[in-house]
Amino acid sequence: MLGCLLQGGCSPLVCLWALMLPLVSLHRLNQHGRRGHIVKDRPKLLLVSFDGFRWDYIDRVPTPNFNSIMDEGVMVKQVESAYITKTFPNHYSLVTGLYAETHGIVANEMYDPVLNQSFSMETDSIYESRWWEEAVPLWVTIQNAGGRSGAAMWPGSDVKIHGMFPNQYLPYNASVSFETRVERIIEWFSATKEEAVDFGVLYWEEPDESGHNLGPQSSLMDVVIAGIDEKLGFLMNELKKAGLYEKVNLIVTSDHGMAQLSTDKIIELDSYVSRDLYTWVDKSPVVGILPKEGKLDEVYGKLVDANPNMVVYKKEDIPEHFHYRHNVRIMPILIEAKEGWTIMQNRTGPFMLGNHGYDNTLRSMQPVFVARGPAFRQHYVKTSMSSVDLYPLMCHILSIHPLPNNGSLFNVKDLLSAEPTPPTASVPPKVEAYSYAPVMGSFIGVVMVLGFLVVYIRQVTLKQLPSIKHRSREMSQPLLQEDLHL
Ligand SMILES: *[C@@H]1O[C@H](CO)[C@@H](O)[C@H](O)[C@H]1NC(C)=O
Ligand SMILES: *[C@@H]1O[C@H](CO)[C@@H](O)[C@H](O)[C@H]1NC(C)=O
Ligand SMILES: *[C@@H]1O[C@H](CO)[C@@H](O)[C@H](O)[C@H]1NC(C)=O
Ligand SMILES: *[C@@H]1O[C@H](CO)[C@@H](O)[C@H](O)[C@H]1NC(C)=O
Ligand SMILES: [Zn+2]
Repeated sequence: MLGCLLQGGCSPLVCLWALMLPLVSLHRLNQHGRRGHIVKDRPKLLLVSFDGFRWDYIDRVPTPNFNSIMDEGVMVKQVESAYITKTFPNHYSLVTGLYAETHGIVANEMYDPVLNQSFSMETDSIYESRWWEEAVPLWVTIQNAGGRSGAAMWPGSDVKIHGMFPNQYLPYNASVSFETRVERIIEWFSATKEEAVDFGVLYWEEPDESGHNLGPQSSLMDVVIAGIDEKLGFLMNELKKAGLYEKVNLIVTSDHGMAQLSTDKIIELDSYVSRDLYTWVDKSPVVGILPKEGKLDEVYGKLVDANPNMVVYKKEDIPEHFHYRHNVRIMPILIEAKEGWTIMQNRTGPFMLGNHGYDNTLRSMQPVFVARGPAFRQHYVKTSMSSVDLYPLMCHILSIHPLPNNGSLFNVKDLLSAEPTPPTASVPPKVEAYSYAPVMGSFIGVVMVLGFLVVYIRQVTLKQLPSIKHRSREMSQPLLQEDLHL
């Protein structure tokens, strides 16, 4: 439109209309793009993960708090996590709706041959953005849509991803208590309307840690599970005290289950293949093997029939249903131990009594799933879902458009309450509309006058300078594009 003005070839009326277009779109942007009065009514959602909380833990000891969420809301009996059933891949699947091969966090320990870099939970490499940027987590998407998010130690939430952190977040520190994390979350949800978060994520390391150390079958796990139920009770109580319990949709789930291991079930790779021939990138029970240059077939040949308690795949032969193939960070050879088996190089080194990572269709690898709140049905039990379905469900609850993902809202829409949540496109409050209109009005007025002036001057001067026409048309392109980006 600037080109049109500068050329002076169009009628003043058309130019006026063109001038006002960006104003109209700016006006809309203030309502929908930024935090305007409409966004305030966005439904609230808190996603909680108790790491390694297997689906059947709630049947082992009394869990009154899990039970009350189930009574007031929904429960899903079988949730299939993403392959591999490890912590980082699955926490990223929960907030992206993508399989690991697509979101790029394919393991807790990774090597990227393109970057020639390693990712490890043991190092600061996890803070390098590029590992995470094959996908966009929900907290970034909701912020781009004008909402706000807060994260208490969810994996990846203290990493700058696509230029953004959650509006509120805690840098990862395992020593910070669950109660402190909850207090922060409550603060963020109960801030002023302009500041309050719409979407929160909360992570807690247990019962994963105890599950690894004790083994899920240990009777000592009963106390740990009861302790998690108490922590959930603490969270519910704090939400109630803050007047948030009836407003905030609460989803409590986990990244995977836990299998019982035994020292009788150890596979020693050293018995089959020399360490000089490969690097093991990701560890038991699903081992990523990077053969040394030119050694792929030799390593594969030595391992493929070596032990009946493991399955050895060349990358291209990994079963389709795992959706775990199409990423350079997946190693050329993958060894999957059978349930309960541990892969080591030799018997020295730490041994755990519980582990996860196995085939995601195993029952032992499945997490708990309960949810309640205005968006959810009451007292409803669903048979099964896939953990990637959670993302489109959360986007629906939060009224934002999901990015392309591997889940399906259709699969889980029966979890939603028959009564839809209030539509977000409510009528703007009178006060704001009142204070807003005169400002807009005078602004438009001033611009109209200026517009006429510009047109008038241009029409007078351009008659004397016809050569400017061509150049100004070229200039108009990028300017127009900038307008569109607003
Ligand atoms: C990869 O990085 C390592 C150091 O971390 C270096 O020694 C090696 O030469 C690099 N390889 C390639 C192919 O650049
Ligand atoms: C982690 O949290 C603990 C407990 O709040 C605190 O004492 C410690 O200083 C924190 N560490 C870092 C690196 O912030
Ligand atoms: C087992 O591996 C460790 C290194 O991880 C090595 O120090 C040790 O000698 C090995 N033990 C045997 C019996 O080969
Ligand atoms: C998962 O979703 C992404 C994004 O739409 C897509 O590129 C990919 O092909 C999907 N994967 C499968 C197995 O459908
Ligand atoms: Zn985990």
